[in-house]
Amino acid sequence: MQIIAVASGKGGVGKSLVSANLAIALTRMKKKVILADLDLGGSNLHLILGEHLGTRGMGTFLNNSRISINEILYPTSWKGLSFIPGEAELPGAANVSVPSKRRLVKALSNLETDYLILDLGAGTSFNTVDFFLLSGSGILVAAPTLTSTLNAYLFLKNAVFRILSSSYNRKSPVHSFMEDLRKDGTSLQKIHLNKLLESVRTIDPEVYDKFREKVAHLRPRLIMNLLDDPRDVYRSQRLRISAREYLGIEMDSLGVIYRDQLQDSAQRSSLPIVAYKPQSVLSQAIFRIADKLIENDERLSGPLTNIEANDSFKEAELEAEADFDLKISSLEELLHSGALTQGDLVETVRMQQFEITALKKENRFVKKKLVEAAAQGFKV
Ligand SMILES: Nc1ncnc2c1ncn2[C@@H]1O[C@H](COP(=O)(O)OP(=O)(O)OP(=O)(O)O)[C@@H](O)[C@H]1O
Ligand SMILES: [Mg+2]
Repeated sequence: MQIIAVASGKGGVGKSLVSANLAIALTRMKKKVILADLDLGGSNLHLILGEHLGTRGMGTFLNNSRISINEILYPTSWKGLSFIPGEAELPGAANVSVPSKRRLVKALSNLETDYLILDLGAGTSFNTVDFFLLSGSGILVAAPTLTSTLNAYLFLKNAVFRILSSSYNRKSPVHSFMEDLRKDGTSLQKIHLNKLLESVRTIDPEVYDKFREKVAHLRPRLIMNLLDDPRDVYRSQRLRISAREYLGIEMDSLGVIYRDQLQDSAQRSSLPIVAYKPQSVLSQAIFRIADKLIENDERLSGPLTNIEANDSFKEAELEAEADFDLKISSLEELLHSGALTQGDLVETVRMQQFEITALKKENRFVKKKLVEAAAQGFKV
């Protein structure tokens, strides 16, 4: 079974959309899939999937040790796809105790399926990071804005810290070193990881080696969603380079997905877009990602060929170009056929205007920070 946890630093970048549609796309390729809503406290996957929320879900399982995982596993109208809903009625479920998390992980690992897709909540809570780390090659979804890529990076940094903290026990001198750092009020987020690791290596080389061995299995796969322009794809490269240089981890790219207005109509019809409009640019991007996942897994289970991470990012750039052309031509088609009304165009312009304003704000904020940094004597 392949476990694919879908995470992002920032919310609203398309984790649930990707999880639900990818799950269906994989069933079309004759794979058995279980889709689980692990966005505890913010479950909405059932809405995207167009399924009714069962009375029992993840929250019931976590709060009641007598419930088995099979009791919260529902068949869906999609052949080959089963669904574990979250629990919208029980927001308290977001605070999961360590024993119930262990019980859940064990139950999930025993499920019989080809793919287990976990739709996670936004942010970097321990639980979210731990679920992401259930497999080394979880999917990280990001949008091409500064805040989103920055949050994706911080998510990865948290994941690396989590791996570090699972590499020592309370008796190790590294434990007291880390505790002192915490007490110091130094936010771990601000610490330069490489420097910290050097200290860990000096304090306890065994811990360092254990950490290195564990972190070597971490190879997240990136999806850049909500693209508007092929040039947006450069943010993927930035993220990849930062992850490599500052966190010492390699990433792969699963490709890009453009913002697609058809998603709004799919949502209104309570249908996942791959079912609502399989020919749309968005659906095609999802099918392409499903293809890559299957290809990837075959490659991983076969002899290790030396596929460079670089290739997958180059491929994503080419896809971004090709999809942009497709997007523009389908827009023209829609206009000619009358499926797209003047009202839709007005709405689009309004939406874009809103996004431009938001970007301008972000730009002003970054400029201000830059000026402040320069004033403090940093070289710009
Ligand atoms: N490529 C896309 N084109 C158009 N709309 C999109 C696209 N991707 C996501 N959306 C829309 O953006 C919104 C957020 O998507 P989604 O709920 O999947 O994000 P999320 O990361 O799961 O959010 P949360 O962090 O709140 O769980 C939804 O309304 C979804 O339909
Ligand atoms: Mg979601």
